[in-house]
Amino acid sequence: MNILIVDDHEPNLYLLESLLKGNGHQVISAPHGKKAFEIVQAGDIDLVITDILMPVMDGFQLCRRIKNDPVLTAIPLIFYTATYTGPQDEAFALKIGADRFIVKPCEPDVLITAVNEVMAAAQKGQSAVSGPVIEEEEAYKLYSERLVTKLEQKMQEAEREIETRKKMETELRQSQAQLIHARKMESVGRLAGGVAHDYNNMINVIMGFAELALEKISPKDPLYSDIQEIIRAARRTSDMTRKLLTFARRQEVSPRVLDLNETIDGMLKMLDQVTGKDIRLSWHPKPGLWDLFMDPSQIDQVLLNLCVNAKDAVDTAGRVVVETDNTRLDDHFCSRHPGFIPGDFVTLTVTDDGCGMDDQTRERIFEPFYTTKAPEKGTGLGLATVYGIVKQNHGFIQVTSTPQQGTRFILYLPRYVKTAAMSD
Ligand SMILES: Nc1ncnc2c1ncn2[C@@H]1O[C@H](COP(=O)(O)OP(=O)(O)OP(=O)(O)O)[C@@H](O)[C@H]1O
Ligand SMILES: [Mg+2]
Repeated sequence: MNILIVDDHEPNLYLLESLLKGNGHQVISAPHGKKAFEIVQAGDIDLVITDILMPVMDGFQLCRRIKNDPVLTAIPLIFYTATYTGPQDEAFALKIGADRFIVKPCEPDVLITAVNEVMAAAQKGQSAVSGPVIEEEEAYKLYSERLVTKLEQKMQEAEREIETRKKMETELRQSQAQLIHARKMESVGRLAGGVAHDYNNMINVIMGFAELALEKISPKDPLYSDIQEIIRAARRTSDMTRKLLTFARRQEVSPRVLDLNETIDGMLKMLDQVTGKDIRLSWHPKPGLWDLFMDPSQIDQVLLNLCVNAKDAVDTAGRVVVETDNTRLDDHFCSRHPGFIPGDFVTLTVTDDGCGMDDQTRERIFEPFYTTKAPEKGTGLGLATVYGIVKQNHGFIQVTSTPQQGTRFILYLPRYVKTAAMSD
């Protein structure tokens, strides 16, 4: 038996062809109704299986051409389509002379049985419907209706696909941006770490000689205060290089098991002073907080920097909230947050209702020397040290901020779990 299959989608043709050939049929294929009609006219086709929506000429038109042609009308035709919009589709197909209407996907057995039944009936000269049973005008009306409904469905499918693609593209862009940011921070860190290390040595030499010189002269000497200035500047520089080394994760640390709540409790008085009396500092420790394995002085550095920033952002009067919590990051969360790895984390959250920041600022805040403050107010090293400390401890930072509303920093620090080897 020679079967002509008509579909504009190559993989559909391939599947159908394999199935029919596997059942002993000869198969010819066409990408649209016009080509199919030419093949049918050339003769030797025993059955047509056609899709509906196709370019150049759709399946409905192909069916009408065949069934309205006295020479071809006896050739049986099956619609095999995925764009099913309702029972009207099948009713219309049968009215214009089709022998069967099958909706994809269907079991191979069902399709083969239908093919065999239609062929057997055709051989006996009893096609399910012999020729179209519909007036030309009605056919056109129904045809337009069916086509519009089908096209609407296709449009909706296409819109859904565009939405999905857009979402995937956004996610991809976010991952790429995250990767570029991580690489940039990595190389800035290497550079800063190398430079800071050499600077530190030289600053120590400058300070050492300046202090020696100071011992040799009287405080009344006009040079005395000049040398004091040299020492002060050298100390500030030394402080900056220390921060750079922290950013570059080259600061030596002495980690130990600690309870973050206790460490913060011990800092509250100092933090209260830092934020000042016009800013309300609230502290919400999570009871039963998991342990951390960290150098406590690093917690001091992190929290101090975050609170000073919050105070600067709030400016005159406002609120700063410090909280801790236990958080489990699962695969679902990490797939939506590039750079995060699943696991158990202790979170430290600092929220303020200050000036907030725009996206451009937020993207750069962890870069060393990035500051929006006046030179005497900020060096832009505070968050760089926070970043270095969190990374050194294999943690993550999440920042959300809205201009004029406030900012939230969430630090995820890995939970410490005592292993059997460490238990005694
Ligand atoms: N809580 C916050 N609200 C609004 N903007 C913030 C906040 N924290 C940081 N920023 C922005 O990030 C920038 C960088 O902060 P970072 O702490 O690294 O440097 P700095 O505070 O400017 O200077 P330094 O900390 O060295 O004194 C700030 O200048 C500010 O623009
Ligand atoms: Mg700061």
